[in-house]
Amino acid sequence: MRHLLNPLDFTVEETAQLLDLAGDIERNPSKYAHVCDGKKLATLFYEPSTRTRLSFEAAMLNLGGSVLGFSSADSSSAAKGESVADTIRVISCYADICAMRHPKEGAPLVAATHSTIPVINAGDGGHQHPTQTLTDLLSIRSLKGRLDNLTIGLCGDLKFGRTVHSLINALVRYENIRFVLISPPELRIPEYIREDVLKAHNIDFVEIDNLDEAMPELDILYMTRVQKERFFNEEDYIRLKDCYILDKKKMKLAKKDMFILHPLPRVNEISVEVDNDPRAAYFKQAQYGVYVRMALIMTLLEVEKPC
Ligand code: NCD
Repeated sequence: MRHLLNPLDFTVEETAQLLDLAGDIERNPSKYAHVCDGKKLATLFYEPSTRTRLSFEAAMLNLGGSVLGFSSADSSSAAKGESVADTIRVISCYADICAMRHPKEGAPLVAATHSTIPVINAGDGGHQHPTQTLTDLLSIRSLKGRLDNLTIGLCGDLKFGRTVHSLINALVRYENIRFVLISPPELRIPEYIREDVLKAHNIDFVEIDNLDEAMPELDILYMTRVQKERFFNEEDYIRLKDCYILDKKKMKLAKKDMFILHPLPRVNEISVEVDNDPRAAYFKQAQYGVYVRMALIMTLLEVEKPC
């Protein structure tokens, strides 16, 4: 039995197969409408979510399966003090696969060690968010036609943003990827990403704080929200929350074939005036998230691809 806890749980080849399957699902959705008939997905969300939880639900429903679960810790037995280990033991009796989001780093790993069904990490604290990464990889591959030879700008809260951590982890495995890491000094990537991931893989990267300066060289600009819920004091959040605002003026500095991604939710970091720019791909990205989660559920449940 396999879980997805970290983007590296799939090799580059397995990731390519999964993205190919997601692509086929996008082109022929009706072919997949019953491949998970009778199967159940449990969504165990101890932290707020719109896209991730609902895209998992949509994915399972699109495959013919059904969904059960909870959308906040308050409405689960966690509020009574139940451990993740106990909860997953019970959920294993009710469902065939589960997606878990938790504020504590490593909670899905704990769940996986006590589970008899595949566990998908749907975001654990400031740590990892592997299904967002699969979504991002599918988006980049679909928009640019490749996952190698790219200059990727990551902008905003690189310290607490788990989507950024997971995406860097996944992208260092492709040829000739260069990162431009754009953040205020306080929100730079954590040391372990800099040392154990970027430097350890000999990746070309720069850390800067000026977005305008970076714009002209980027193939992809991945914007992120300042992660309010992970700040220790509100003053710091207020000081940093609007550190970058992507607007039409900044878009003029970018290449014609650069694309903007954002895991969403957006707060102020992308002005709504950018939404109509053909390079704004963040809503399309949310759609890719459904295809990729359909492919992931099929892969972990070892469902055969229909002909
Ligand atoms: C992200 C998350 O939860 O980490 N959202 C998402 O899953 N699409 C990004 C965020 O909350 O800023």
